[in-house]
Amino acid sequence: MPHALIVDDDANAAEALADLVADNGFTTACADSLQAARDLLSTSPDVILLDLILPDGNGLELLRDAQTRESDTQVVVVTGHATLESSIEAMRHGATDYLLKPINLSQLRGVLSRVARPPELSAEVKDLRTELRSLGHFGRLVGASPPMQRLYDQLSRVAPTNATVFITGESGTGKEMVAQTIHEVSRRRLRPFLAVNCGAISPQIIESELFGHEKGSFTGANRQHRGYFERAHGGTLFLDEITEMPMDLQVKLLRVLETQAVSRVGSDRLIEIDVRVLAASNRNPHDAVAAGKLRKDLLYRLQVFPLYVPPLREHADDIELLAAHFLADLNKRSGTSKAFTPAAIDRLKRFHWPGNVRELSNAVHRAYIMTDGDWITQVGLAPEPTLAADFTGRSFQVGVGDRIDAVEKRLILATVQHTHTKEAAAEILGISVKTLYNRLRAYESGADLRPVSSPAPASPPAPGSRTPAT
Ligand SMILES: Nc1ncnc2c1ncn2[C@@H]1O[C@H](COP(=O)(O)OP(=O)(O)OP(=O)(O)O)[C@@H](O)[C@H]1O
Ligand SMILES: [Mg+2]
Repeated sequence: MPHALIVDDDANAAEALADLVADNGFTTACADSLQAARDLLSTSPDVILLDLILPDGNGLELLRDAQTRESDTQVVVVTGHATLESSIEAMRHGATDYLLKPINLSQLRGVLSRVARPPELSAEVKDLRTELRSLGHFGRLVGASPPMQRLYDQLSRVAPTNATVFITGESGTGKEMVAQTIHEVSRRRLRPFLAVNCGAISPQIIESELFGHEKGSFTGANRQHRGYFERAHGGTLFLDEITEMPMDLQVKLLRVLETQAVSRVGSDRLIEIDVRVLAASNRNPHDAVAAGKLRKDLLYRLQVFPLYVPPLREHADDIELLAAHFLADLNKRSGTSKAFTPAAIDRLKRFHWPGNVRELSNAVHRAYIMTDGDWITQVGLAPEPTLAADFTGRSFQVGVGDRIDAVEKRLILATVQHTHTKEAAAEILGISVKTLYNRLRAYESGADLRPVSSPAPASPPAPGSRTPAT
């Protein structure tokens, strides 16, 4: 039976909580001070439910206590609303989760069921930590350079907790992959991982997409709809491009994060949810706050644990490893054995990769397709513009021989970057808002697209098939 230590200077509150915890299949012990709690650490509790304000000090001290950090003990901070900030601080210091007073039974149950799982997971995370040092990857993330090792180290600390994580980094650096990895090495991994790109859903429908709606709540709402939050119950919700979420909805999101309950559009009924939120942006979040794109209180709430994914040029040592990884994947899928010549590798290493890992992956794929024999020479590695390119100026160069779809993509992305709203961008471009959203979604997913005005495409080449040079 798992064991819980309840630390609260209010003996009555501690006993009441202990009863609830015991109902969930735990043995329990109570401590009314920091010292009493320290004395009981030798019983190796599986979980400590920790009040932060104690007569002989701050509960954080217990959290920092080496004994606690070395063992598999999980610390859940129990706090009143007034100290929400300090509980966020506690999560930054390694607490697994927090509970708000008065204790909500189903939230308590959720937290306890997560901490009561057998310790294999933490063993697995430890294995991953060793693995990342020796093999140069963490889960599906590839890279052996010091900046990636730092990232893996942070990942292995934060993934098993329930903390909200804010992932920043340039486009194509691997933010979504980092989010998936957090989910995969967390206790939620058998539950859904859902990703929502807030920049690719029109502002009119994003609220009902996230929170759901009741039948008849607006024109066109023909039936009840469960939103992403409800569907991610028990799992992880990845809110990508969070700075594109309308400001009024950011208020609602903040409330959902604080109450862990949603109400569908057209209903006042609160539905309790147990969802871990991860958010990402390729903007600097503080700039986004200054520009009025992100609410400061929401950033604070999301950034319990900030993670920065470095651009590829800051871990150029990984280029060869990454390129080999992408090539091996292609070889495996098509049963080939193509390899880079030393000159090709040299060329890859010297390029500055403004579109980061995505651009490298695309370049390897292109070179693979263009190569007939076993040796991939430098030919065909000429990178085409990517999502991240050309965003600095108001114009970009178009050369004779450029592909129309590539030029269109650059034009669309650059225009979106320079206009305040997607509606304005669509108007300037002379296309419908719907078309614009479809394009952005397709670029996001890496799909190949024909230009807006051209006829329907023939089916695209299958991966690994040969296409003539363009
Ligand atoms: N460290 C890595 N190891 C292996 N593959 C990676 C790594 N980083 C990124 N990738 C691959 O690069 C591509 C881009 O990654 P991802 O979509 O996670 O980037 P992103 O930061 O979310 O980009 P954007 O800001 O444009 O949405 C994906 O195909 C992903 O699988
Ligand atoms: Mg992404």
